[in-house]
Amino acid sequence: MTKSTVPDVRYNTKILQINTQNVGRFVFHDSEENFLGKWNIELSETTSDAQHLAQAAAQLRSSDIPVAFPTETVYGLGADASRSAAVLGIYKAKQRPSDNPLIVHICSLTQLRSLLLPQSASTSIPADSLNDPIPSIYHSVISRFWPGPLTIILPLPSPSPFAPSVTASLPTFGVRMPSSLLALALINLAGVPIAAPSANTSTKPSTTTAAHVFEDLSGRIEYIIDGGPSKVGIESTIVDGLTQPPVILRPGGVSIEKLKECAGWENLVVGYIDGIQDIVPRAPGMKYRHYSPKARVILVRGELTEQIVQKNLKQGTSVGILRTKHWKNGEFGENSMVREPRDPQIMSEMLGLMSFYSAEPTKTDNICETVQVQTQPVDHFQKRLGNDVRAPFIDIWTIGLGQSTTEIARGLFSAMRELDLIGVEVIFVEAINENGKDVAAAVMNRLRKAAELELVS
Ligand code: TXA
Ligand code: MG
Repeated sequence: MTKSTVPDVRYNTKILQINTQNVGRFVFHDSEENFLGKWNIELSETTSDAQHLAQAAAQLRSSDIPVAFPTETVYGLGADASRSAAVLGIYKAKQRPSDNPLIVHICSLTQLRSLLLPQSASTSIPADSLNDPIPSIYHSVISRFWPGPLTIILPLPSPSPFAPSVTASLPTFGVRMPSSLLALALINLAGVPIAAPSANTSTKPSTTTAAHVFEDLSGRIEYIIDGGPSKVGIESTIVDGLTQPPVILRPGGVSIEKLKECAGWENLVVGYIDGIQDIVPRAPGMKYRHYSPKARVILVRGELTEQIVQKNLKQGTSVGILRTKHWKNGEFGENSMVREPRDPQIMSEMLGLMSFYSAEPTKTDNICETVQVQTQPVDHFQKRLGNDVRAPFIDIWTIGLGQSTTEIARGLFSAMRELDLIGVEVIFVEAINENGKDVAAAVMNRLRKAAELELVS
């Protein structure tokens, strides 16, 4: 495994604001007005949004410097998947180990089929055709979840349409069709398949706003497209239907229960490791750093007792508490704290970023974004505990992610980044129940990867 070195050139990173509603007109060529068939975009000649989109698409086509763009899951760091130099630019900017393959992003099934079967590029093969190059096992999940947060594993065609570093020498590749209109428009306009990992520095929490991407990748890339916060907030689910039974390789925006409802996916098995972490903290060098803030993360199932807090703190420690479904604001063991909600505007100015948002839940699994995202800062408060001899001068910051799993997923990475900016040394996170049809399993998977300890109180 080789790790890319820090690039010597520093770029003047620009943030391109794009509101998809102003980029132009989406034109559908097939009978059905959906993104699975053939479509294109007629750019507006007057808006800066259209100009920015064209600029980013041109950069993807011709430059070797990757472009960060929003998707509904997390922000991606995109490059033309067919050009080696461009794909290497991703590994370089992200400092990503080169043995970790990338997901290819496409904007229609027509595009995917033309990659799998180049000679049929001009014809759109119906999904039910025996000649469909997309294996039939995937038809049910594609029609239910695409465009959307699901990545499928396909055999790599020969000759491969992708640069070797996309697949890291595997005989397969991962592909997904995002539901973010902005991502779809960008891929369509670029006219090439886009390889994109999450747009964070390797090992850091994934990014869900342009500000977070800037935090990690400023100076390393030229353009970050700002299309607002990601609605799902957690990466796509990855499934491999090429094996029998099919396997889920990473939990994400589509739950295992929903996948199991699809024809051919009833026996889906879990193929990722999601065990309980060690009971004692692992040696610092041994920690598997992934989705990790700088602070130590302690995942707590049950109540956050004073005993747990005291045990894991030093004097003068600054602490973050991430509340989810049951922990109450103002409660901390016996020390009942006065609720001191901060003005979101002040918090925003203080921290330089504020990125908790809420959107209407999507009504079907694969609906594209139609609702405008509203900003809705979560409640925060800070308290300095100085009157307890066992814990003098502990600064406690709490963030309530909201009680619905959807809200928790959306705000999780963002909250970890915010607590890192504040500079807390320990973050206590309230675990959630992971059964059900929502993204709870994915939330707990990311938390376990970030945590050093999982405690049951
Ligand atoms: O939601 C997402 O999937 C986001 C957005 C940007 O689309 N992307 C993302 O990419 O999370 P990344 O690179 O952070 O994670 C890609 C995962 C890696 O764990 C990689 O090992 C796996 O996909 N992967 C890629 N190709 C694979 C293959 N052929 N077989 C198995 N796993 C694969
Ligand atoms: Mg990632």
